[in-house]
Amino acid sequence: MSARAAAEEHVLVAVAWPYASGPRHIGHVAGFGVPSDIFARYQRLRGARVLMVSGTDEHGTPILVAADREGVSPRAIADRYNWVIAEDLLRLGLSYDLFTRTTTANHAAVVQDVFRTLHDKGYLIRRSQLGAFSAASGRALPDRYIEGTCPHCGFEGARGDQCDNCGRLLEPTELLSPRSRIDGQPPVFHESEHFFLDLPAFRSALTEWLEAQHEWRANVRNFSLKLVAELQPRAVTRDIDWGVRIPLEGFSERSDKLIYVWFDAVIGYLSAALEWARLEGEPEAWRAWWQDPGAEHFYFMGKDNIIFHTVIWPSMLLGYGSGGEVAGGPPNLPLVLPRNVVSSEFLTVEGQKFSSSRGVVIEVRDFLSRYDPDALRYYLAAAGPETQDTDFTWSEFIRRNNDELVATWGNLVNRTLTIAHRHFGEVPAPGPLTEADRALLERVEGGFASAGALLGEARFKAALGEVMGLAAQVNQYLAENQPWHLVASDRERAATVLYQAIRCIDDLKVQLLPFLPFSCQRLHRMLGAEGVIAPMPSLREVGPVDDPHLVLTGDYRAQGVSWAPTEVPPGRPLPPPEPLFRKLDPGLAEEELARMAGDGA
Ligand code: MF3
Ligand code: ZN
Repeated sequence: MSARAAAEEHVLVAVAWPYASGPRHIGHVAGFGVPSDIFARYQRLRGARVLMVSGTDEHGTPILVAADREGVSPRAIADRYNWVIAEDLLRLGLSYDLFTRTTTANHAAVVQDVFRTLHDKGYLIRRSQLGAFSAASGRALPDRYIEGTCPHCGFEGARGDQCDNCGRLLEPTELLSPRSRIDGQPPVFHESEHFFLDLPAFRSALTEWLEAQHEWRANVRNFSLKLVAELQPRAVTRDIDWGVRIPLEGFSERSDKLIYVWFDAVIGYLSAALEWARLEGEPEAWRAWWQDPGAEHFYFMGKDNIIFHTVIWPSMLLGYGSGGEVAGGPPNLPLVLPRNVVSSEFLTVEGQKFSSSRGVVIEVRDFLSRYDPDALRYYLAAAGPETQDTDFTWSEFIRRNNDELVATWGNLVNRTLTIAHRHFGEVPAPGPLTEADRALLERVEGGFASAGALLGEARFKAALGEVMGLAAQVNQYLAENQPWHLVASDRERAATVLYQAIRCIDDLKVQLLPFLPFSCQRLHRMLGAEGVIAPMPSLREVGPVDDPHLVLTGDYRAQGVSWAPTEVPPGRPLPPPEPLFRKLDPGLAEEELARMAGDGA
């Protein structure tokens, strides 16, 4: 993709759907949240038509287990955490075009259409398999209701459907030493009839497609190819009473055998696009993202989700083709396959895995009650688990905030605007430029190409490092030219140096915007400019009267800024500057550790 997008380039930013089973912690938003928003904001700045969709994942055993735990209905759990999660994502400034839910009528209709179409085409096979049941109560124990040791990697906390340690799919019968999550007892196995997705039917198409994906992160491509080689048919229904109904005769009346949560959830990327289009009042508008062969789809998630996005969902898309009630009809084109599947590794905290029960958890809302969203976004972009597992520590968070965000970028802005405001009250008019003045600006403007290329490849850490390196060079320029002394001795030269610095800051403001939208918006005002450059999402109640629900949405057309060098008119009045960021007392690290220890007790 070129740095300047054609206006009709359609980019789908498809963000993993968090389970509505509890509050999300910073490890979750490190995986799917912040990276996807950086990417979407960058794509919009370069002129692409972005559709960023997701929602809460509200079916299946994750929700049932939470309902058991809290002693309320699954519906109550889904409602509560849909609200909590949507609010957290809002506070982080994640610019979803639509963040909806999987319990809407629209979603169920699209899921059933995909199921029916795959069935009609012969890709869903009906057969019996051994399922786990409680010896004491006879109750079915699907997915998360049963745990045991992974036969592939030996991980002891593997679940009935997947091992989170090695990422492989499992069948309950494969678990070693299986036990019920409800009473800890070994389950008994009975035959039960289910629908299986014929994954081997897609093996050669998937292999060919995966082999061509040289721009993916190597681990995602290699891991997926390995999985495809071992593919077996996979049950996509469950003995469960919380989910989407099977739309086939003999099954549609049953409320005890329903569609598997993962089959339903991945379809959300499509159903949310339809819902968005309807809310826009242009019900066919989704097709430009889903059926235009030039549309590009970028998926964002944690590594435990890889298989569902590189194998299962692409198989469903290939099988569905141009069929179905939903997507059939003109232009009769197949649904678009992923262009990149961007998966993050895991974040640990203070050397430990996140665990609510052990108090090793930092909830997003708790974090944002004491720290600014841009400070968290900066940390996760600069030091998050982009290509390897990484550890969050409070002292490192504080150090990066103080030594990088505040010392390099915040100080550059602050000292430049403070002198310019105090001595000129406006953007100073420059005199003749030296070679060094020009060279600096050229380097900073080069950031649009260099950081832009990295952002397009989802290399966020490198892109941010590139821009922060440019900010450091502007600091260096100020240190060499000392405009604070020049104002007394050579006012014209001081004006020139400050003007060059302000132009650089204005360019860096755009380059940092995808990472730090809140502070870049404030900086925009501090530079004397008007307009919204970092649009923010808002919460809205939508839907027909019989299906009202909460969504996160927004209008993200930025005013007067794009991914290109900016113009700063000399003479524009400058308001009094304010600090962009807060310096944090290193003593806070101890306080936070004590708070975490207290929570665990
Ligand atoms: N709810 C899943 C998780 O948290 C992610 C689902 S992504 C989906 O791991 F889009 F496929 F739903
Ligand atoms: Zn495993």
